[in-house]
Amino acid sequence: MTETDGRKTIPIARPWIGEEEIEAVSRVLRSGWITQGPEVAKLEQEFALAIGADHACAVSNCTTALHLALLALEVGPGDEVITVSHSFIATANTVRMCGATPIFVDVEPATFNIDPERFEEALTDRTKAILCVHQMGMPCDLGAILRFSRRHSLGVIEDAACAIGSEVQVEERWERIGKPHGDLACFSFHPRKVVTAGEGGMITSSSGKLDDEIRLLRHQGMSISDAVRHESASVLVESYPVLGYNYRLTDIQAAVARVQLGRLPEIVEQRRRLGALYAAGLDRVPEVRAPHEADWARSNWQSYCVRLAGDLKQERVMQFLLDRGISTRRGIMCAHREDPYRSPPPRHTLTESERAQDRCILLPLYQEMSEGEIERVVDALAEAVGHSR
Ligand SMILES: Cc1ncc(COP(=O)(O)O)c(C=O)c1O
Repeated sequence: MTETDGRKTIPIARPWIGEEEIEAVSRVLRSGWITQGPEVAKLEQEFALAIGADHACAVSNCTTALHLALLALEVGPGDEVITVSHSFIATANTVRMCGATPIFVDVEPATFNIDPERFEEALTDRTKAILCVHQMGMPCDLGAILRFSRRHSLGVIEDAACAIGSEVQVEERWERIGKPHGDLACFSFHPRKVVTAGEGGMITSSSGKLDDEIRLLRHQGMSISDAVRHESASVLVESYPVLGYNYRLTDIQAAVARVQLGRLPEIVEQRRRLGALYAAGLDRVPEVRAPHEADWARSNWQSYCVRLAGDLKQERVMQFLLDRGISTRRGIMCAHREDPYRSPPPRHTLTESERAQDRCILLPLYQEMSEGEIERVVDALAEAVGHSR
């Protein structure tokens, strides 16, 4: 960590890696099996159990997870997928990777999540699926999304890249995101996420058929896995009935993710504690609005995103904080403002998405952040809003 005025710089995020992860990696390196194998299989079982899913299939990252999830729902050329522009660009890219078209709809300003009120205007006879994002770990309105998708026979994929450990209330019960409530949910183990393996992804589903298809596609369409051939007493010859990909997770990554997953309750508890401290601190800064959590949603606070009052200059606030050794990021990007998505222009207005990108900033939040550091961010932010008009 660098220092500003003798004080440590507060980074935007910091992975929480300990000796246990290092030992797990050493164990795998010594085992003689380092790519997709027994550790991946154990991670899949443990992940399914932790989330409450019937099936979990590990892949190389969440981008490849989303690609396979869309392919499993047979999304292809000529199809349209209703989704948000206001997300990391991977969300939209994966729709394009299938040869389909993402149809962007606007987000709800309070939650930054897809606005189900916009579905009707986006629906055409080409609509095949809805790809919703639990943005920054905040659950989206799955009740409204599923009511619409069932009425119109659409598939639902949940981009849960940021949402490991987030929960939604379903008929009095709290259930983890990724059960899944739609057809498939996709997670990321990138270091900015709550559980990390450096890189990595997971797809959960309730359907054995979808799970089988994804397993085939992640490993070049190969009919017999390496592990099964390895353990077989007789010679097994594989075939390649479908076009597949190399989207495998390694056992080295899986070993790290297993340790991290074991700490999920502790991780989420701490992030919620830090989120509550921010909310309490920001109460005294009326120019900055804290994020909104609906009664039926519990975020894991993967990111803490605040909205600035209209006359504040986002970049000036961010620079003011950086000068005081506090790292921030602008609000989540909008894909339709990037070259690959400029033409043709989006069919629907994306006013709230653009406003969220331009008016919001993400504040630092990581496991080992102290109460004093939260106070330092809130104090600096309070000062910044006085200087950034
Ligand atoms: C909402 C969302 N979807 C997808 C991804 C892609 O995840 P990965 O980096 O694991 O491919 C990210 C990563 O930041 C994300 O935030």
